[in-house]
Amino acid sequence: MMKRILISIAALGLLGLQGIAVAGDPAEMSETCIECHEIDEFEGMSAEEIAAATTEANANSKQMAKATADLSAEDLQAIIDYIAAEANK
Ligand code: HEC
Repeated sequence: MMKRILISIAALGLLGLQGIAVAGDPAEMSETCIECHEIDEFEGMSAEEIAAATTEANANSKQMAKATADLSAEDLQAIIDYIAAEANK
């Protein structure tokens, strides 16, 4: 019984991920960030906090501005949501 419920939840999760994958896979896109950052760096931060810190870092660091320049706002948000979820697992 419990197992069946878990499988259903897993299936829903997969559907959700596929929905996002159409716009660009956040897990794949986040690898750009991981070239300079570690997921653990963002542990304890909410997606909102990471987004605010990203905006600030973009203004203060040329490297960061360059790293995010080619990303649409939607893609960047998807990456940040993904990183927040991974960092706080
Ligand atoms: C070329 C290297 C590089 C890449 C790629 C990069 N960053 Fe950064 N990032 C930096 C540097 C340099 C800083 C400013 C110094 C610092 O705080 O470590 C920074 C700072 C940040 C901060 C603020 C850290 C804090 O604790 O306040 C966040 C959040 C962040 N980056 C998110 C991202 C995300 C999301 C991506 C991917 C879209 C990304 N970075 C890609 C170099 C990079």
